[in-house]
Amino acid sequence: VGHIDDVQELRKAKPATVPERFIRDMADRPKVVPNLSSSLDIPIIDLSKLMKTDKDEVMQLKTACEEWGFFQVLNHGIDLNVVEDIENVAKDFFMLPLQEKQKYPMAPGTVQGYGQAFVFSENQKLDWCNMFALGVEPPCIRNTKLWPSKPVNFRETLEIYSREVRKLCKTLLKYIAVSLGLKGDVFEEMFGVAVQAVRMNYYPPCSRPDLVLGLSPHSDGSALTVLQQGKDSSVGLQILKGQTWVPVQPITNALVINIGDTLEVLTNGKYKSVEHRAVTHKERDRLSIVTFYAPSYDIELGPMAELVDEKNPCRYRRYNHGEYSKHYVTNKLQGKRTLDFAK
Ligand code: SIN
Ligand code: FE2
Repeated sequence: VGHIDDVQELRKAKPATVPERFIRDMADRPKVVPNLSSSLDIPIIDLSKLMKTDKDEVMQLKTACEEWGFFQVLNHGIDLNVVEDIENVAKDFFMLPLQEKQKYPMAPGTVQGYGQAFVFSENQKLDWCNMFALGVEPPCIRNTKLWPSKPVNFRETLEIYSREVRKLCKTLLKYIAVSLGLKGDVFEEMFGVAVQAVRMNYYPPCSRPDLVLGLSPHSDGSALTVLQQGKDSSVGLQILKGQTWVPVQPITNALVINIGDTLEVLTNGKYKSVEHRAVTHKERDRLSIVTFYAPSYDIELGPMAELVDEKNPCRYRRYNHGEYSKHYVTNKLQGKRTLDFAK
């Protein structure tokens, strides 16, 4: 990614329009979304109720996973200081001079480092977003050369945050299993030492939010994704519900959770990995911090036997999760196309 494709640098120049490479084909452009009062909203799950195995809450979780693939989690148990700290170091990192950030360049075909991931051709449209991504767990997947020395508390803050998010993912997976009528520890048992990666997305304001996308439509390759949005960020995340892009209204102190492709496969399509995208705003910027939680790369997986029967014939093949991950990071983001791998 050259200087000219760095959207923060582009923004500084305040051009009246945006470079051609960011301008989407007509059909892909975001419609101007009518104001907040959307009656469609993703479900809200109270983790403290789930942890008492409250039957209604488990049912709500089930409905959320079947019909939305997305929910916001309240009382998630992560200390609000930890949430605030990660937001601050992420913001501080993105505000560094380009030269400093470019000490950690994203290598092509990987999603680690600073730059634009998922770009594979000269004529591919670019997202109005800067990304900084790192593998975090297990430690052997870390490319420590890409862990920045500035801001000085970045590394420690990311470690603390990741530890907390890991606990949250394990807890959520336990109740997801329960909501499927399975033993609480099935995923924990199956996943081995889970892989965890973080991607920080920074979307500067854009003079033409009607022409660009912050992030192309895609589903996640993870089992579970935890998304934290900056406190002062604009609304930007949209999920595809039927034919409609539904904006996710951030709730204070909630985290957004979504089901990734891996859980869709494991549940034989019962729980959905839903397509989503990000849009930009004319005056406001947006920060999101996204954690991907997935099985160990050496795991072979496919639909769980308990979820396959005559009425629900097996919809996906078995495959190696590491190969799937490789497939995911070496293809452009394009709706749910990455799941074709499992068919
Ligand atoms: C993502 O899908 O990885 C992030 C979307 C967002 O910024 O909300
Ligand atoms: Fe995503």
